Amino acid sequence: MSQIQELFLKGKSLLENTSHPNLEAKLLLLKCVSLTEEQFHTCPDHKLSRVQEKHFYKLISRRLAGYPLPYLTGVKEFWSIPFSVFPGVLIPRPETELIVEKTIELSSQGDETIVDIGTGCGNIAISLARELPKARIVATDTSKKALKTARLNAFKQQIPVIRFARGNLFSPLRRLCLERKCDFIVSNPPYVSKEEWAKLPEEIKNHEPKGALMAGKSGLEIIKKLVQGALLYLKPGGYFLVEIGFGQEDKVLSFFNPSWEEVNFFKDLAGISRLALGKIPS
Ligand SMILES: C[S@@+](CC[C@H](N)C(=O)[O-])C[C@H]1O[C@@H](n2cnc3c(N)ncnc32)[C@H](O)[C@@H]1O
Repeated sequence: MSQIQELFLKGKSLLENTSHPNLEAKLLLLKCVSLTEEQFHTCPDHKLSRVQEKHFYKLISRRLAGYPLPYLTGVKEFWSIPFSVFPGVLIPRPETELIVEKTIELSSQGDETIVDIGTGCGNIAISLARELPKARIVATDTSKKALKTARLNAFKQQIPVIRFARGNLFSPLRRLCLERKCDFIVSNPPYVSKEEWAKLPEEIKNHEPKGALMAGKSGLEIIKKLVQGALLYLKPGGYFLVEIGFGQEDKVLSFFNPSWEEVNFFKDLAGISRLALGKIPS
């Protein structure tokens, strides 16, 4: 039996080549014991059983072999909410919070109809539901696994109001008769090109779902369809918000035809143009 503090120091040193050895060792330890983060800090003498210790070292070795931390812990925080994540479902990224931030900023009464296309683990839809409890939210995805995870997250966060629907791009909206009924259509779609995919870190390429990241040869195929299709489903005065990749701003701008009243781009914290925002006339 080893003390938690001792194992933490060993774990930290084994993980020294990861970007956050302290945090990673702590999160992996917490995965193996039933302690809160506070107890972790206040009970350095807490003893782990042999089985727990073995489990901890097994997680460390998988992490060192390049397995993503959130798939090992089963959790990734987004908008200060812990989201369950599983292999086969994309791990939410912090830059995607920009979509949530802008949608809240643009919402006037908070009771709008919002559609999230390609919801993944439900991070955007659930964060919006938390901030705008009167909104009617529909979240879609083609992936069964993603929708199952998103439903689980909505249940864990006690958010019963989101309607989940499976299908390609706008097909669930057509089924739900949402033509000209949406105040917001938001999406973080796949936008990685074939060339960029080849250069992604092994940790992503080997473990995260390709279908959640790559969109054809150019990376722009899905964004183009979303820009074109959104016009049919937005109410007059409605907004379309879509996350884009590095260097895609000019191409994405060319997809917005003159039916759009306004198109703007917003940068993420790294200064990269990350969000395209279109508004249709009122
Ligand atoms: C980049 S991930 C985003 C997931 C999540 N919204 C987030 O922000 O982390 C894109 C998601 O879109 C889904 N997707 C891919 N192609 C799609 C399509 N044609 N129609 C609907 N969803 C799609 C994928 O399954 C994946 O969950």
